[in-house]
Amino acid sequence: MTDASTAEARTDDTAAWWRQAAVYQIYPRSFADANGDGIGDIPGILSRVDYLADLGIDAVWLSPFYPSALADGGYDVDDYRDVDPRLGTLADFDELVAALHARGIRVIVDIVPNHTSNRHAWFQEALAAGRGSAARERYIFREGTGENGELPPTDWVSVFGGSAWQRVDDGQWYFHHFAVEQPDLNWDNPEVREDFLKTLRFWSDRGVDGFRIDVAHMLTKDLTEPLPSRAELELLPQDGTHPLIDRDEVHEIYAEWRKVFNSYDPPRTAVAEAWVSTPERRARYASAEGLGQAFNFDLLVADFDAEQFRSIIADNLAQATLSGSSTTWVLSNHDVTRHATRYGLPPLNGRPVKQGTEWVKAGGPADQLDRERGRRRAHAATLLLLGLPGSTYLYQGEELGLHEVAEISPEQRQDPAFFRGGEFDGLGRDGCRVPLPWTAEGSSFGFGADGAHLPQPSWFAEYAVDVEAADPSSTLSLYREALRLRHRLQTAESLEWVETGRVDVLRFARPNGWQVVTNFGAEPFDLGADADAVVLGPVDGGALPGESTVWIAPQELIG
Ligand code: GLC
Ligand code: CA
Repeated sequence: MTDASTAEARTDDTAAWWRQAAVYQIYPRSFADANGDGIGDIPGILSRVDYLADLGIDAVWLSPFYPSALADGGYDVDDYRDVDPRLGTLADFDELVAALHARGIRVIVDIVPNHTSNRHAWFQEALAAGRGSAARERYIFREGTGENGELPPTDWVSVFGGSAWQRVDDGQWYFHHFAVEQPDLNWDNPEVREDFLKTLRFWSDRGVDGFRIDVAHMLTKDLTEPLPSRAELELLPQDGTHPLIDRDEVHEIYAEWRKVFNSYDPPRTAVAEAWVSTPERRARYASAEGLGQAFNFDLLVADFDAEQFRSIIADNLAQATLSGSSTTWVLSNHDVTRHATRYGLPPLNGRPVKQGTEWVKAGGPADQLDRERGRRRAHAATLLLLGLPGSTYLYQGEELGLHEVAEISPEQRQDPAFFRGGEFDGLGRDGCRVPLPWTAEGSSFGFGADGAHLPQPSWFAEYAVDVEAADPSSTLSLYREALRLRHRLQTAESLEWVETGRVDVLRFARPNGWQVVTNFGAEPFDLGADADAVVLGPVDGGALPGESTVWIAPQELIG
């Protein structure tokens, strides 16, 4: 249990609570299953709020829990203002928010504005109402090409692979940037805009503190004919004028949203998922007149390499100055290979590659995975990140040091990206979405009474919460200690680099004297007299071992 003083230390009631928060992402269907149907649910999360409080996070971000056929893990939303009956009720949701707030933990929910699901009432209405109807105007319907309109309007390809157009019974085609079950909304339509304002108010009124905005850079489109071909599209610059991606006018939408956010006290926050071409373009999403913060995904595609980390950190701090926002850090989320695994494989960033006819992840089959090395580097990278200015987004299971699950058969896989072979070619994203192990023994490792919706491998037992909680050298113990110390040490949002005389060792100091040293290389790094001031991380004979991080702090700060 967390005592009142810890909860108090965590609570920052000013409007700026988000600037340096540690946010923990929950993928609800894979967190904890209270009713034993194999799918994680809201009562399951409720049963684990003490775990979340003990972890020491400032906020949780809940991935979609709305009614959904799960064509894309819940990012295909049937109704934006309800809870999936399999996951619980609105009353359960209210109870969860109250329980988290009581422990000083804020709540962020996921908004998916680019597309609805094909089961959404609007899309069903559009299908029934037929061509030329107002209902079709909420989506992007076009006539086909070819003699009888039997060919799609363009040769564009969706993110998950295959055509980006789908034909409906009366012969028209609709546009879907993602799965067939995710028709894109028409953001030129005032009704669409109005409805999302209503959704933002709906959750804000229920006490939600902030929002994570799914593919925030894709909402507005310019589909004036003639439409470019796929090849032409790929050559167009993404400078605000591209027909589909990161168009300048998308910010008019977020300016409207900001008015809603600021009508609450404290103002609701938002963070953009925006994969855009430059840091400058990303800064627009993070502006105080817009969403206020944007994810920085640079480390998801970086190697465990001092020079890459250093330039990413420097660029993002500079970018934060541009936007006035705070920096954000992410090593793992529900869309990418877990970082313990990326760092334990040959350096291909966890990206899938083709070997012969087989797609394999991260440049090697699972037997090339060096688990111990992955764990060591993951610890080093996490401690480095938690020492940086700005907010850090953690993904459920990384606090256990979980590895990606490779051993899921094709029949058991769920990710549409796996089946259609689009941008996430290879194994898809199921391997990081396997339900969490809570206990080493028992049905589905304590996830639920009757199995898990994705298969858990036997090695999950070693990573179970009950095992790690009892082991002071576990990843869980490290995260708990790091998050606890971080609250004490947190200071103004800046850092100064300290020269180390080695290209593979990074060192920086925060304004209050808190220092972080990361050794990316193999050779130990001598810490000199500072070895005595290490408050977290491994020291061996006065030196920082290879592939590890320490925190150094004056005693009075941790007192
Ligand atoms: C975002 C989500 C991803 C989803 C996609 C479509 O990238 O993170 O999981 O598949 O949007 O909604
Ligand atoms: Ca359940």
